[in-house]
Amino acid sequence: MASVKKVTVLGAGLMGHGIAQVAAQSAGYEVSLLDVKQEFLDRGTSMVKESLAKFVSKGMLTQEGAENILARIHPTTDLETAIAGSQLVIEAATEDPGLKLDLYRRVSEYLDADAVLASNTSSISITLLGSATKNPENVIGMHFFNPPQLMPLIEIIRGAKTSDKTVTVIRDVAASMKKQTVLCKKDSPGFIVNRILVPALNEAALLVDEGVADPEDIDKAITLGLNWPMGPLKLLDYVGLDTALNISEVFMEEFQDGKYRPSPLIKQMVRAGMLGRKSGKGFYEWGSASGTRPKA
Ligand SMILES: NC(=O)c1ccc[n+]([C@@H]2O[C@H](COP(=O)([O-])OP(=O)(O)OC[C@H]3O[C@@H](n4cnc5c(N)ncnc54)[C@H](O)[C@@H]3O)[C@@H](O)[C@H]2O)c1
Repeated sequence: MASVKKVTVLGAGLMGHGIAQVAAQSAGYEVSLLDVKQEFLDRGTSMVKESLAKFVSKGMLTQEGAENILARIHPTTDLETAIAGSQLVIEAATEDPGLKLDLYRRVSEYLDADAVLASNTSSISITLLGSATKNPENVIGMHFFNPPQLMPLIEIIRGAKTSDKTVTVIRDVAASMKKQTVLCKKDSPGFIVNRILVPALNEAALLVDEGVADPEDIDKAITLGLNWPMGPLKLLDYVGLDTALNISEVFMEEFQDGKYRPSPLIKQMVRAGMLGRKSGKGFYEWGSASGTRPKA
């Protein structure tokens, strides 16, 4: 397998723009950034510029350095152009299995036989994504955390057919991006972090629903008692109650185990459009940046 020099990132959204920036900034790769419309590429590029400006204002980067990083990111809407000459494709497209499978089939047409195709998916099976390609041994999970520019961890996930060589490539690339890695040896829903986190968040919502404690006290208990940087209900508001519900439903479906049943309160809040920070209201009101609890 050729060493990685050019990386392609598929999807210029919340995660894709950040992954492209990390690849160009921390690792110095040439990066092709693909999205389906020019306006999405423009939005992604603006987000990269804003993030680089913060690094410059904090004295962590010079203006010239920021310009050089930006010059290494090449936006395009053409899949063939994006993939040509790439040793690694990192897919960060919309979390929709049908959309991703179609994309993997098309990517596989253009991809070099020994290039690696890594997915940033949070919940879709790596084995399933690999099955849509000609070389499933080169398909792997590479799960970044939000925001990729700042979060130090990447979960690496083996699909059923992922080769050792592919794992080594991703370990090396992650190291070049100055990230720590953990290996998920099996392709299992939620990998490590979400498998532990999402049931914990769900349990916090169950405590509210059962009237055991008020949200402020649950969050206070977990921040002070477990030293979490924020309580589980505030974190649910950040993650989005709809996203947490989707993941719980995937767990229920995949594991067929009632312990993953989503909290009825979360379901009800999602139906009411109380999705957390992004909708302005969840367990907290989000008119202000840090969130406050509505007065009873
Ligand atoms: N948001 C998070 O906190 C987070 C964290 C870790 C992993 N993820 C995963 O990252 C992936 C992307 O999530 P996001 O939050 O960035 O979503 P997003 O909606 O912000 O961005 C997705 C982008 O993919 C683009 N896209 C759709 N179809 C495409 C195609 N065929 N080719 C190229 N681009 C295409 C969309 O236009 C959009 O710009 C998902 O798989 C998600 O599960 C998200």
